[in-house]
Amino acid sequence: MNNRHIFFGKLLGPLVIAGALMLTLNHPVSAEQPYDEDTYGPAAPILWTKPVTAVIFNHKRHTMEAGLECDSCHDGIFQMEAGSAEGNDDFTMDSLYKGKYCGACHDGQTAFASNSRCTSCHIGVQAYQKRIGGQKAPKGH
Ligand code: HEC
Ligand code: HEC
Ligand code: HEC
Repeated sequence: MNNRHIFFGKLLGPLVIAGALMLTLNHPVSAEQPYDEDTYGPAAPILWTKPVTAVIFNHKRHTMEAGLECDSCHDGIFQMEAGSAEGNDDFTMDSLYKGKYCGACHDGQTAFASNSRCTSCHIGVQAYQKRIGGQKAPKGH
């Protein structure tokens, strides 16, 4: 075997395969930067409907864009299970104001305060139904 073969077999080959795999896993004709769920957490936003409909959370905004580590939230503040916090009676604004849940950071210092910009987190009933309906109902009216 000459050096070229070794180069292709050991380095270039796996790279080409990895590249093809990434193209297959993502939208084939997307101009967007590929989003890696292993590195940045689930792509789908988390939506809570209790006690109020609906609050949204995006991993991408917090990990890829704000640069937070998984541990910042998944070492005590939140379970790695969508809908888990929603089962707690104290998943309320009062808890947020006391520094629990989102309030651990949304205190006006680390991130915008929980008593401001309500609609950044609260997308409301209509937007929620649109998202849910948009996944199931056919396009049209
Ligand atoms: C800023 C806070 C925050 C950070 C940082 C964060 N997560 Fe999460 N994660 C959440 C919240 C909130 C939930 C939903 C928990 C709930 O509903 O009780 C969640 C849920 C999850 C879930 C479960 C999703 C499902 O559908 O059940 C996974 C998996 C997960 N996170 C992985 C990660 C990984 C991997 C990272 C790091 C790359 C990460 N998270 C970083 C807040 C965060
Ligand atoms: C570990 C810290 C941390 C936790 C916990 C956290 N956030 Fe954030 N969040 C940030 C940071 C940092 C930013 C980016 C800076 C900013 O927007 O003030 C951000 C940004 C956001 C934004 C983006 C606003 C915009 O217009 O771009 C929303 C919405 C948001 N967070 C919602 C939530 C919700 C809902 C929760 C709880 C389920 C939560 N966050 C928990 C740190 C956190
Ligand atoms: C950082 C994100 C965030 C911001 C900002 C925020 N909320 Fe919330 N809010 C939540 C979360 C999380 C819940 C609990 C989940 C749910 O009800 O779907 C909640 C629940 C609520 C509830 C029902 C529970 C309770 O405390 O009575 C009300 C009412 C509410 N928010 C009002 C507001 C108002 C008004 C503002 C602006 C002044 C605001 N929220 C700003 C995240 C936020």
